[in-house]
Amino acid sequence: MRIARTAAELHEHLSAMRPRSGEADGVGLVPTMGALHEGHLSLIRAARAAHAAVVLSIFVNPKQFDDGGDLAAYPRDEEQDIALARAAGVDVVFAPSADEMYPSGFATTVSVHPRLTGVLEGAVRGAGHFDGVATVVCKLLAIARPDAAYFGEKDFQQLLVVRRMVEDLALPVRIVGCPTVREADGLARSSRNARLSPEQRAAAAAVPQALNGIADAVGRGVVGVSELRPPALETLERAGLACEYLAFVHPETLVPVDAVDGPTVCAVAAEAGPVRLIDNLLLNPP
Ligand code: PAJ
Repeated sequence: MRIARTAAELHEHLSAMRPRSGEADGVGLVPTMGALHEGHLSLIRAARAAHAAVVLSIFVNPKQFDDGGDLAAYPRDEEQDIALARAAGVDVVFAPSADEMYPSGFATTVSVHPRLTGVLEGAVRGAGHFDGVATVVCKLLAIARPDAAYFGEKDFQQLLVVRRMVEDLALPVRIVGCPTVREADGLARSSRNARLSPEQRAAAAAVPQALNGIADAVGRGVVGVSELRPPALETLERAGLACEYLAFVHPETLVPVDAVDGPTVCAVAAEAGPVRLIDNLLLNPP
């Protein structure tokens, strides 16, 4: 496994590999901010199964953090990430510095329309969050020139924003969404879970419980959002979690719906102490 700190180094490593790529499908890119866990590893495995070369990018992107405190507190463990990447069969880790990605004079922002970036996570974190994501993902795609890039459904709004950008700008890459990887009690894996106290960690299970309760109710034919929301909010409240939003939206337009009478995403964000937990579930009418 090679480690590239600059775009030039990444190109050098990839051009050395490409002649050996044989039948398999070119390069797969897995963009991450490091602190790797099973969720990230599932993306790496999906890329490993499909491509001759797998590039893992590790870059804690300052442009997508509105809050300097959250950026400073973001977990970083490059040594362990490199060991996990090697064990998972990554070919090249691309771990650039902030100066490599954003040299002085950098002046471009990729901005997807606020109807997709100003709601849900964008409403809480500020529209600048998804501009930061779109800008860094666009640049990572330009640097790595992958055939496909892998993203988790856990961050379903991010996946939607990336798909929109790729389609609108006709970027020559396939975007692959991968299912959310969960702990035994249903909590979605996240780098931020490491910051939960044991009590907060126990309470956090209320997030998937609330979503599963909604899915069960929909399965029983309860489809009105006004009936589905209150018991889910109560589940969160009983666990001591502060709900930021619990929204029922169309999976592609993010427009709120009143009833689960077509494909609907239920998206939730709640705070457990200092940690924001986000999760979502695709609901289909019974
Ligand atoms: P990060 O939070 O490190 O996540 C990297 C990728 O892993 C994202 O596509 C995310 O959706 C996916 N992922 C995280 N937890 C997951 C889980 N439990 N199951 C499945 N996939 C999971 O998301 C980012 O970084 C950044 O915004 C990035 C896209 C790298 C741009 O900076």
